[in-house]
Amino acid sequence: MSTAPKSIDAPTTAATDPLSLIDVDHVHFYVGNAKQAAYFYAHTFGFQIEQVSDLTTGSRDRASYLLTQGNIRIILSTPLTKDHPAAEELKKYGDGVKDIALTVFDAEKAFERAVSNGAEVEYEPDTLSDEYGSVTAAAIKTYGRVTHTFISRTGAYDLPNVKKGGRMSPAFTKTDTPLNEYNKQHPCGLKYVDHLVGNVEEGKMNHWVQWYESVLEFKMFKHFDDKDISTEYSALMSKVMASGNNLIKMPINEPAEGKKKSQIQEYLEWHDMTPGVQHMALRTDDELHSVAELRRRGVDFLMLPDAYYEKVWDRVNTTLREHGHEPVKENHERIRDLGILVDSDDEGYLLQLFTKPLQDRPTLFFEIISRRGSQSFGKGNFKALFEALEFEQERRGNL
Ligand code: FE2
Repeated sequence: MSTAPKSIDAPTTAATDPLSLIDVDHVHFYVGNAKQAAYFYAHTFGFQIEQVSDLTTGSRDRASYLLTQGNIRIILSTPLTKDHPAAEELKKYGDGVKDIALTVFDAEKAFERAVSNGAEVEYEPDTLSDEYGSVTAAAIKTYGRVTHTFISRTGAYDLPNVKKGGRMSPAFTKTDTPLNEYNKQHPCGLKYVDHLVGNVEEGKMNHWVQWYESVLEFKMFKHFDDKDISTEYSALMSKVMASGNNLIKMPINEPAEGKKKSQIQEYLEWHDMTPGVQHMALRTDDELHSVAELRRRGVDFLMLPDAYYEKVWDRVNTTLREHGHEPVKENHERIRDLGILVDSDDEGYLLQLFTKPLQDRPTLFFEIISRRGSQSFGKGNFKALFEALEFEQERRGNL
């Protein structure tokens, strides 16, 4: 298993700041059938099905699978009883992201600091340990149904060991499938979580921006308004929050006024009018390779009209030239053939592409992104993208 250079080498002062983040520990999904979802994500996105925690390992109320690729760790969990809290959430929201877990130096201290900063408690610190090491976790509530778990690890369960294939916690056991070997032979090249976007209710974006500033001590990263990102029919507003070391970026969207229904409003209506994670962006160093491989595996990406490519090179390369950067180096025809989107700003460019929803409800989707200097989110693509999204909303009868 390869590891991406995402984790920071923590400076000695970082350990004294309780909210200093080491890494995205994992992203936890609640799904209707974890055994089957594991095969979907392994087959279509090339994840390794690495570890399991279920009845055979003594877990009586839920089954969980750890999927990994590069420095991305996804845990898929399904309830085994009607009384597990995930059962109620699945009824309301369908499959989706429940928790964005953050590795810290001391989960208890991070939790105490967040709570003293005003966080609402999901659960108090709890340590799982055995003779090999320990994992301490404590969680706070963020927008809607989503939580942030702080996790600190010792011994065999320390993150560097987990990245090398060690067990995620005493609750997990290693597993294997023939698909894992196939995926090693045919890598998709996904390296780490670039950003996670939340959809919140109209009028609530600034509330959650302030929450990330005061509770997690994040900073505002970029700012768009509805003039930047609206089409004739649908609109949204978005602000991007980033952790102190930019390890994780969390854009927050709210619906804005439009002639027809905003895609954010559509999400909320299929998510029990409750905020949640709209998309997770996964970073690759080679967008063309990753998208070609994912397409070959059957990933369903959003389609853009051909007209997009008539204007894009002029727009993107002009901006790059104005700021003294080289033009887009990847083969332009291949980019068009693969349906990849391109955007540029003063720092460079990025390549990105969005999947269609990953489950039957029009809720969670993935973005595959590669950055060549640009640290933004593809603002120049929003108009073309929203038109493509509206086409899909129309097909679903939700516009
Ligand atoms: Fe994104």
